[in-house]
Amino acid sequence: MKRQLNSYIQQMTLEEKIAQLLQLAVPFFEGTESAGQITGPMAAMGITDETVRNTGSVLGLAGAQEVINVQKAHLRSNRLGIPLLVMADIVHGYKTIFPVPLAIGCSWDMELAEKSAAIAAKEASVSGVHVTFAPMVDLVRDPRWGRVMESTGEDPYLNSQFARAFVRGFQGSDLTKETDRVAACVKHFAAYGAAEGGRDYNTVDLSERQLREFYLPAYQAALDEGCEMVMTSFNTVEGIPASGNKRLMRDLLREEWKFDGVIISDWGAVKELIPHGVAEDEAEAARKAIHAGVDIEMMTTCYMNHLADLVHSQSVDEALIDEAVLRILQLKEKLGLFDNPYRGADPEREQEVVFCEDHRAAARELATKSCVLLKNEAVLPLRPEQHMALIGPFAQSGDILGPWSWLGSKEKAVQLYDGLKTKLSTSQLTVASGCGIETETPEQWEEAWKAASEADVIILALGEDSDMSGEAGCRADIRLPEVQLRLIEKLKPLGKPMVAVLFNGRPLDLHGVYDQVDAVLEAWYPGSEGGAAIADLLFGDVQPSARLTMSFPYSVGQIPVYYNSFNTGRPKDALDAQVKYVSQYLDIPNEPLLPFGFGLSYTTFTYSDAAISADTMTLERPLHLTMKVTNTGKTAGEEVVQLYVRDLAGDVVRPVKELKDFRKIELQSGESQTVTFTLTEDQLRYYHADLQFASDAGAFTAFIGPNSRDTVELGFRLEK
Ligand code: BGC
Repeated sequence: MKRQLNSYIQQMTLEEKIAQLLQLAVPFFEGTESAGQITGPMAAMGITDETVRNTGSVLGLAGAQEVINVQKAHLRSNRLGIPLLVMADIVHGYKTIFPVPLAIGCSWDMELAEKSAAIAAKEASVSGVHVTFAPMVDLVRDPRWGRVMESTGEDPYLNSQFARAFVRGFQGSDLTKETDRVAACVKHFAAYGAAEGGRDYNTVDLSERQLREFYLPAYQAALDEGCEMVMTSFNTVEGIPASGNKRLMRDLLREEWKFDGVIISDWGAVKELIPHGVAEDEAEAARKAIHAGVDIEMMTTCYMNHLADLVHSQSVDEALIDEAVLRILQLKEKLGLFDNPYRGADPEREQEVVFCEDHRAAARELATKSCVLLKNEAVLPLRPEQHMALIGPFAQSGDILGPWSWLGSKEKAVQLYDGLKTKLSTSQLTVASGCGIETETPEQWEEAWKAASEADVIILALGEDSDMSGEAGCRADIRLPEVQLRLIEKLKPLGKPMVAVLFNGRPLDLHGVYDQVDAVLEAWYPGSEGGAAIADLLFGDVQPSARLTMSFPYSVGQIPVYYNSFNTGRPKDALDAQVKYVSQYLDIPNEPLLPFGFGLSYTTFTYSDAAISADTMTLERPLHLTMKVTNTGKTAGEEVVQLYVRDLAGDVVRPVKELKDFRKIELQSGESQTVTFTLTEDQLRYYHADLQFASDAGAFTAFIGPNSRDTVELGFRLEK
């Protein structure tokens, strides 16, 4: 039944309306285990019982019975019986934890990405959650920034594909009917990933063209897919904090993109307009945020404490508040909460659905598709008759779920040791920690030395603990912690094959690892089934197929280093380049250690017979580009065939390569397949100096290959 939501608004007092715009954390609500535990900054918010009764939404609440209790209590006390919206960060799984998004990105698999979001939505909704604060689609170029693990990487096209897949997975096709879905909230708008120096919450200052070409497409893709909500970011954009940025919200989101869903501030971001230095006090912060377009203020009370006065003094038009309330009520209506305020919450089903076998199998599958094989000097796959020493702080660690897995159980996560045990007899596998993440003891070292001395192969399980990335998890030195590098160095003289399995939330500076060991498997944070998935890969029961979606720097001094950069006027590798006056470092290469799109398999693929259907593309005549790919190795394998384009002379400078399309193909040993890409004029458009989105007539190069570095070139012209 479609309700007259406006009639609610007419009946609401100004205070009741303003409270709809407030989002509070769990301890404020009756019916929760932590009810009343309001300490620290929360105590200073000055929230009264009256406010809680009228509040529009809660964050961080999950668990069917608890949600039912809270909603019941709320409906008892809310004068008009307006249900609470329950929001939570269900980012890469609810209790069944999937690999972190950066790892999912490396799968290049939209179907599995969508499935992971659908499973997360199913577990979350049966546990009472209505909205998830995901997907995070910020484009990232700086691995010092801890939150790169929440993104799918450095490419706008790929990020947009993933944004769409995640939104489809979370929301399904009809939120009202499908109660096993949740509304999605794309974040963090905008350009949070471009923080200067990779330091969280830091300044972002981009040209309009950079913003539109690289950073905005993924948010827009999420909204095109029907994403219900947008979250603002903490950073400034051209001098104005995103949470008070009228140009971003009113002009871009509302006017240009016609987004009419709910905009929520990030946690405390409205009040942060004060330390940012654009508001003198909370009242000014409230005025700026509501004018700029923030509907819900998360976890601070500038709106609650000041909007009414601002309305009375005519600094804020009440119509702005009514609009925001209407959008929130519309979302509640769309989720069916007026008819069934408990929606999917079902304690009995919750027991069956959450962390069930099927979901765990899906997590295992996606983890196998997300771990990237970075090096392999004929050591992998492991052979079951070998004797192995598993050494390192991640050998027996459940800290493999990664940031944003607050509901996942580290205790229930499959550790690497447990995964390997299923493939070997106990006598063939010895385990030792060797060191901690950042500490070491003589006993740990002795145990590791003994285990390594007796083994045929050493498997090193190394990495960063999950607090070393994620929000506020930035690092300036992104090598492995010193003790772990020392562990490798001390084991090296044994002369035994060494395989490093890395658990981390960012591309690392791999000095001391890549050059020392024989094989490297980047496992990221692989999730609940991580150990099982890695064992599948190490033993070749599943073929590694993932490809990097963020470059691994040669050294931190290159950062930001990304594949879709500009050529400069003095490129280093030009045929007529001078020796000295070129764009280069004197002490390190310009290129990253491992480029975007890179990843190995246990087999080899050759590319041949590159062809293009014509020399010239016209508006009516697209081009077909073909490439024969042959599996020349001994085992079956999956390859990600990538198509890039370069516009050789643009209206403004163009990236040296831009990903336009890709195909993930599976080939048996000896098998060939001809991959065909169709390239059309609209794929060549970009933002010109006057911000027109258009293509240029003239010369282009298409590149096809297994990664952004090793490609075959095909030239063509666009005629208009
Ligand atoms: C994070 C968001 C998150 C929010 C709510 C913030 O600190 O930046 O990504 O959704 O908290 O938990």
